[in-house]
Amino acid sequence: MQINGQNYQTIWLNEDGWSVDIIDQTKLPHQFQIENLTTVEDAARAIKDMLVRGAPLIGATAAYGLCLALRTDASNEAMEKATQFLNAQRPTAVNLRWALQVMQKHVADKQGDERIEAAYTKAAKIVQDDIETNRMIGIQGLSLIKELAARKNGEPVNVLTHCNAGWLATTQWGTATSPIYHAHKEGLPVHVWVDETRPRNQGASLTAYELLHEQVPHTLIVDNAGGHLMQHGQVDLCIVGTDRTAANGDVCNKIGTYLKALAAHDNNVPFYVALPTSTIDWTLNNGFDIPIEERSSDEVLKLAGRTQAGDLTEIDLTVPGVKAANPAFDVTPAKYVTGLITEAGIVEASPQGLQSIQEKAA
Ligand code: MRU
Repeated sequence: MQINGQNYQTIWLNEDGWSVDIIDQTKLPHQFQIENLTTVEDAARAIKDMLVRGAPLIGATAAYGLCLALRTDASNEAMEKATQFLNAQRPTAVNLRWALQVMQKHVADKQGDERIEAAYTKAAKIVQDDIETNRMIGIQGLSLIKELAARKNGEPVNVLTHCNAGWLATTQWGTATSPIYHAHKEGLPVHVWVDETRPRNQGASLTAYELLHEQVPHTLIVDNAGGHLMQHGQVDLCIVGTDRTAANGDVCNKIGTYLKALAAHDNNVPFYVALPTSTIDWTLNNGFDIPIEERSSDEVLKLAGRTQAGDLTEIDLTVPGVKAANPAFDVTPAKYVTGLITEAGIVEASPQGLQSIQEKAA
C-alpha cells in the first residue's frame, strides 16, 4: 500500500538476504522509520513494544523471529526455547501461536542449514499468503459495500472502524480496511469514521494515516462519538478486526469494540468482523476464555504526540498518584456480530457458520 505515493508492505527481508525490515509503528504518523531486526530478541521486542502490532503482522514477525533464532542455533532445543520466548510476548492475538506452530511443523524434520533455509521459505510464504488472504477478505466484503451503495443513490457509504485493522496491522490491504480499499479502487463513494482508539490511539495514528495516504475520505472521531453517529443515521456499516475468534463466533478485539457492537445492535447498524481464518481459535468454544492482555498503566496516564517544534514527546494526562487500569482487548459476543468476513466467504458468527469454512481454513 502507499505512503507518499510509494508502495510498502509492513515486513520484508532486508537486501542482505537474512535480516528483517519493519516499519516502526510507534513513530507513526509523525515519523516514518524503518527498523532492522537481526536477532530473535529484536523480533520479540518489536512485538512486545508494538513496533509491529495487529494480529497477522505479529504472526509474520514471529515467523521471521524464529528464522533469526535458528541462524544462531538450529537445534530442536533452541527452536523450542525461541518459540516459547516469542509466543510469550503478547497473549491475545492467536496468530502469534498459529504462525509459530506452522513454522515448527514445517521445519521439524530438517536439521542445520536445511532447517534455516526451510524456515525462511515458510516465513516468506506466511507473508505472501497473508497478502492474498486479505485481498480475498476485501473482495468478499466489497459485496456488502456495493449493496449499501446501491441503496444510497451516490451518497457515500459511511463505514465505522475501530483501532487499526488496516494494512499496517497485516502485511497488505488490512482486514477491516480491505473491503474499503477495494470499494474505493472501484470508484464507489465510501467514507470512514475512524475511532481514535484510546489509549494508544491506533485509529488516529495509523488508520487515519493509512486512509490519508490512500486518499480514502475519512473523519477521525473520539471513541465515544460512534453511538451518537449511529443514532443519527450517519453510520451504514461497522467493520472491525479481531485478534482471536472463538469457535462459537465470539470475537476478541481492541478494547472498546464491544461498546460499538452494542450501539450498532441498538441502532440496527450491521456490525461485521473481518478476519483471516488463521485468527480463529478452534480450541476455544467461548470468547470469554481468551486471555486479555493487560498493558502498562502508563499508556492510559500519558499521551504521545508531536510538539510544534516537530519533536516526538509524551505528556502526563493527570497528576502523580492517580491509578489506571489498561485492559487492551474486550470480547464481543457472537449475538452482536452480523457476520464474519473471511477469505473463504462471509459467514454467520456461530459454531455452524465457522464450521462451514473450517475445511477451507485447515
Ligand atoms: O494492540 P494492537 O494494536 O495489536 O491491536 C490490534 C487490533 O485490535 C486489531 O483490530 C486486530 O489485531 C486485527 S488486525 C487485522
